[in-house]
Amino acid sequence: MKIGIACDHAGYYLKEEIVRFLQEKGHEVRDYGVYSTESVDYPDQAYLVAEAVTKGEVQQGILICGTGIGISIAANKVKGIRAALCHDVFSARMARQHNDSNILALGARVIGVGHALAIVEAYLEESFLGGRHLERVKKISRLEELN
Ligand code: RB5
Repeated sequence: MKIGIACDHAGYYLKEEIVRFLQEKGHEVRDYGVYSTESVDYPDQAYLVAEAVTKGEVQQGILICGTGIGISIAANKVKGIRAALCHDVFSARMARQHNDSNILALGARVIGVGHALAIVEAYLEESFLGGRHLERVKKISRLEELN
């Protein structure tokens, strides 16, 4: 799978671990940075991956900041993005199955590397179930037209 990934300074070390993990699993990873712990603004990083997802350049995105909160809020401002902040495996599975999430957000200051990798793996294993969930996801899209 083609996966876009980005982080802010707080997510740098976890991002590096996830990139390595994904490459070992055979995924094609597009790394939109950052490449150090120098301070940056997470909305800029969120936009890079959100844009790659909406343009179809990657199939899924992963975004990491300190808590995962700021970067997921920012990504969800982009039309067509359904970013899910998941700090447990069950939520990660549901984000794909029920919400057709297209970006997984993680907080590097919240969970450890092993847990994060398990969440990433679970998220990428699942796919959207459609059915009754499809109309709900369509309703989310309609909310984007209200502003
Ligand atoms: C950066 O210090 C921190 O605010 C950011 O990584 C993130 O946690 C914001 O939601």
